[in-house]
Amino acid sequence: MSTLLSNLELQLTTLQSEAQSAIAAAATLDALEQLRVSYLGKKGELSQILKGMGKLEPGDRPHIGAIANDVKELVQTALEQKKVDLQSAQIHAKLESETLDVTMPGIYMPQGRIHPLNAMMDRALDIFVGLGYTVADGPEMETDYYNFEALNTPPDHPARDMQDTFYLPDGNLLRTHTSSVQIRYMEENDPPIRIIAPGRCYRRDTEDATHAAVFHQIEILAIDEGLTFTDLKGTIEIFLEEMFGSVPIRFRASYFPFTEPSAEVDVQWNGRWLEVLGCGMVDPNVLKIAGYDPEVYTGFAAGFGVERFAMVLHQIDDIRRLYTSDLRFLNQF
Ligand code: DAH
Repeated sequence: MSTLLSNLELQLTTLQSEAQSAIAAAATLDALEQLRVSYLGKKGELSQILKGMGKLEPGDRPHIGAIANDVKELVQTALEQKKVDLQSAQIHAKLESETLDVTMPGIYMPQGRIHPLNAMMDRALDIFVGLGYTVADGPEMETDYYNFEALNTPPDHPARDMQDTFYLPDGNLLRTHTSSVQIRYMEENDPPIRIIAPGRCYRRDTEDATHAAVFHQIEILAIDEGLTFTDLKGTIEIFLEEMFGSVPIRFRASYFPFTEPSAEVDVQWNGRWLEVLGCGMVDPNVLKIAGYDPEVYTGFAAGFGVERFAMVLHQIDDIRRLYTSDLRFLNQF
């Protein structure tokens, strides 16, 4: 046997055993692929060895060829087997990592709540929507016209003193009540109308237990042919009964520039009379300014403070509690 021949044989068997142990040790599919290329690839070790075949005696070639084929097949089989093993290990690991452990403790999600002021407004809206009213709104920055003049309150009117106003440098103001929405809505819509308008209002009040510079009101307005004070009373009575239950209420004559006659309504609450809202028949001047014919249409209006309602209903002693975001307070609702 020529030295070349035995040399080639030795190289092939060495390649086989080296390849088999390297394949067995491969930890990833990538590493396995690299091994395939380096042993069996075009420029791999097997090809390099077989280049030496050209120098063999022609009679020796089939012998080496057969060995080379065996080696190639063995390495290939080892590669395939290892590939299957690695793939199944990979799937296994994935499944393992995605298992849901139902015995793990849950993650605590604090439960959100509706703020008492929003809850209050939602309740009032629900009641009036149930009576056929539509929700309306208007801007918080208002003109003097919508906030006062069109509501029958000209510049020198003493009633302006009832509402200390934030005036803006451009002559506009922050609305002092939601009554401004009455005019805006009437300008845009023909009678009959029934609206409820909740929103934020502003007054230059010094803050204390019952006053806030920013607060919320809800405005009610109904205009139709033949509406009377009885309709106003009935509507307010139904509303207050839904809100407070069947507690005694009383209407007290009062004054507002935009209603005539006007009234304030008190409810008996914890043994005393508490004023909860202002109301009245829409003044004919207001109807005229808004473009409605007061000979044909009449209407009633009412407005109340949302904070006031919430304080009475939930026995809240200080209006500022509604704004300080103290969870010990808010969690009670
Ligand atoms: N706008 C009044 C205020 O802020 C409340 C009010 C009274 C509204 C009588 C009305 C009403 O619609 O008719 O004090």
